[in-house]
Amino acid sequence: MNKFIAVLVVILLFGGGYFLGQKSGNDTVAVIDLSERTGAEFKSSGMESKSSASTVEADTSAGQIIVVNDGESIQEAIKQAQPGDTVRVMPGTYKETVYIDKDNITLSGVVVQDKWPVLEGEGLRNDAILYSGNGVIVENFWITHYKGNGVMGQAGNNYIIRNNVVVDTGVYGIFPQLGKNGLIEHNVLSGIEDAAIYVGMCDNVDVRHNEVFDSVAGIEIENTRHAIVEYNYVHDNTGGILAFITPGLPIKTSEDIIIRNNFVVNNNTPNFGAPGSIVAGIPRGTGILVMAADDVVIENNIITGNESVGIVFTDFSLAKAANDPDSEPNPNRAVILDNIMYNNGTNPHPLVRAALLANMITDIPQIIDTVGMNDGCILSPERYSTAGLEKYKRCDVTTTANVTTYTLAEPVPPRSMDEIDLGKTVYYGVCAGCHSYSARMIGPPTLVLQALYKDNPQGIVDYITSPTKKRDDYPEMPPQNYLSEEKRIAAAEFMLKIKK
Ligand code: HEC
Repeated sequence: MNKFIAVLVVILLFGGGYFLGQKSGNDTVAVIDLSERTGAEFKSSGMESKSSASTVEADTSAGQIIVVNDGESIQEAIKQAQPGDTVRVMPGTYKETVYIDKDNITLSGVVVQDKWPVLEGEGLRNDAILYSGNGVIVENFWITHYKGNGVMGQAGNNYIIRNNVVVDTGVYGIFPQLGKNGLIEHNVLSGIEDAAIYVGMCDNVDVRHNEVFDSVAGIEIENTRHAIVEYNYVHDNTGGILAFITPGLPIKTSEDIIIRNNFVVNNNTPNFGAPGSIVAGIPRGTGILVMAADDVVIENNIITGNESVGIVFTDFSLAKAANDPDSEPNPNRAVILDNIMYNNGTNPHPLVRAALLANMITDIPQIIDTVGMNDGCILSPERYSTAGLEKYKRCDVTTTANVTTYTLAEPVPPRSMDEIDLGKTVYYGVCAGCHSYSARMIGPPTLVLQALYKDNPQGIVDYITSPTKKRDDYPEMPPQNYLSEEKRIAAAEFMLKIKK
């Protein structure tokens, strides 16, 4: 027996060594092969299908590899890198913020004998990785102790964020904002104060095979179209999976979201979100929450142990969010297919209990629609206790299995960054992560700031370059001095100009 193990170890060691040796001597970079994902059409009434064979693929085939060793700077390597290059980061501790403003850069950690490249924020730095390039890949990092974001995308398209561990890091864990065509997979996130995985104002994204726990919002799909959230293990957050419209953002809709094959378990952590933020309104014990988003399909999830409610559909009222005349507040055309649900609603948050009692409901149901929509459907209504689903019809569709991805077959072109668009792009890509026009988010509403700074864009630039603490009931604003002067002034002018 012992001999057998010894032989096995020898084989593994040598095999592994040989493999590593081959890799490091090899100058070509792996190209992501997603060719197993073949697409087929999923159609049901009111649902648009965008599925097709897919590759979210940066063109890295011709690139150089730049190796960063412990004690060196990742940012220096990014400065040297050309589009198509890979920056390979060896195990070690890196105390920095990495900005990627070039296209087709792969930032790839190397894990050796359990030792990771660690991005360490020391509780001082705001962000670990900010990218605004297109075709950016971020993989294999251990990210911890940042105040703001783990990995944030600012209007970068065709992104892949995978195999990262993001723990005890700030407000948002993985946060692509305003990106089209992306993949977020095999990440582990915990201890995030707002949304651990936060897909904001994006299109065409798959969020798969992640573990997300001990955060306020586990996975949040916000003001985003065509998203698949699947095979994730989402447990011990305040709320598990959320599909949202946040009012007051420039993109006004959230629609065509498939939430399937996830484990949504014991999301009962007391809410520790920043007071006043939208997620601070999520009652602990919420499994899946759909707020105002349309055409959301919930299929084949195991949803259990969420003490307030398993699945809830609602309008803006539940999160006490401000209204937005340009966003339709109802969760239209919900599709609830078969899910495994039990032991939800066993000890509801007082808010949920009060809301149910107000409607004279004393037995806590597994699924609630607080609006009482009449355009939703449920495949097997007899399986669950429900409230507010009286007008749902029985679904015609039984599965979304034929939609394999919402990522796109071809990389999409970069967002246009010409002069006219600059302010808009920076504002939407950066500022809108914390400032909505009318609602309170992490920062104050833009309309309040417009009143403060009326004809004074330079005043805004001065503030955002080195912000000081102004309000007791808000966190500090992180400095935006990594943005060029030109971008800061453009964003400030745009901020003063917008009307909704
Ligand atoms: C990570 C979140 C975040 C991002 C991103 C962000 N802000 Fe802020 N902002 C805040 C917070 C929080 C405050 C309130 C700070 C305080 O009152 O102490 C704030 C306050 C402000 C203020 C008010 C200053 C004052 O005198 O009261 C302005 C102006 C502002 N932000 C502009 C911007 C612009 C422009 C951008 C984009 C380039 C931006 N912010 C990006 C969080 C953010």
